Amino acid sequence: MITRRPRRLRSTAAIRRLVAETRVDPAQLVLPVFVADGLVAPRPINSMPGVSQQTLDSVRAVAGAAVSAGIGAIMLFGVPEPDDKDETGSAGYAADGILNRAIAAVRAEVGDDLPVLADTCLDEYTDHGHCGVLDAGGAVDNDATVDLYVRQAISQAEAGAHFVSPSGMMDGQVAAIRAGLDAAGHQQVGILAYAVKYASAFYGPFREAVGSALVGDRRTYQQDPANRREARLEASLDELEGADIVMVKPAAHYLDVLADVAGWSRVPVAAYQVSGEYAMIAAAAERGWIDRRAAHTEAVTAIVRAGADIVLTYAALELAEWLR
Ligand code: PBG
Repeated sequence: MITRRPRRLRSTAAIRRLVAETRVDPAQLVLPVFVADGLVAPRPINSMPGVSQQTLDSVRAVAGAAVSAGIGAIMLFGVPEPDDKDETGSAGYAADGILNRAIAAVRAEVGDDLPVLADTCLDEYTDHGHCGVLDAGGAVDNDATVDLYVRQAISQAEAGAHFVSPSGMMDGQVAAIRAGLDAAGHQQVGILAYAVKYASAFYGPFREAVGSALVGDRRTYQQDPANRREARLEASLDELEGADIVMVKPAAHYLDVLADVAGWSRVPVAAYQVSGEYAMIAAAAERGWIDRRAAHTEAVTAIVRAGADIVLTYAALELAEWLR
């Protein structure tokens, strides 16, 4: 005779809701948004159905919608005009660069009602597409790049970012940015560190979204997907260097890594459901091969179940609606 019947707790939707171990709240979702220079109307991104590059004007409406939807934060990426790219990515740290103008525009719209996060990296702005400056041999120069990240972070703080988000995986970037922000009087500006970031094929659609010029790959600075233990080193270094939030990226194929980091981190842990993760669901849904709403909801629930306190997802606005 069977006495223990686990199916009892699955028998109605209301009971399943009562006993759910994981609940996704719009307040923990972060919407990444691309803002392109010189754009006059939002431009759809082919490889990310449902996502568009925004103008300096339209991003304000998106930010307003995020506030209304109860989303946790917005993460802004800048897309410069192709002519503004150069060897050192100077449009990334110019005070009037596209991202800094976007930060100011969004802050004017939302004030302190929505945390404004800024991507701190140079790949969108360099003509070679790497995340930093190159040395004579063509390799990414760690320390010279970190100096530019500090300039970029300070310019983002000055534009009004609540958090800067170094994503270039240079050694020592968090400590240098923290010291630079403090010295410039920005002690209150936080750092969301892309602490654990793998050299992933799932960033493919992002390259179209930001018009990246990259030829080759980022395997000399981003992590090898084969490595799990190394994530602990990367995340603990960033925590010690002063990261206020650490992030694991990508999310869905790295849930083991995410669970590890969430298990011992003393600061909040974020996970980034990246462009390729989004695109796979969106593309299959467009063909009618998968249910868009169910797949996105399941994917983000799994990321939260694995231990993420915060999830960056291009589906944040839809999810907020679906979770209502
Ligand atoms: C670097 C950066 C990338 C992403 C976020 N920040 C691209 C890369 O490292 O190659 C990828 C995000 C995504 O794929 O959604 N600035």
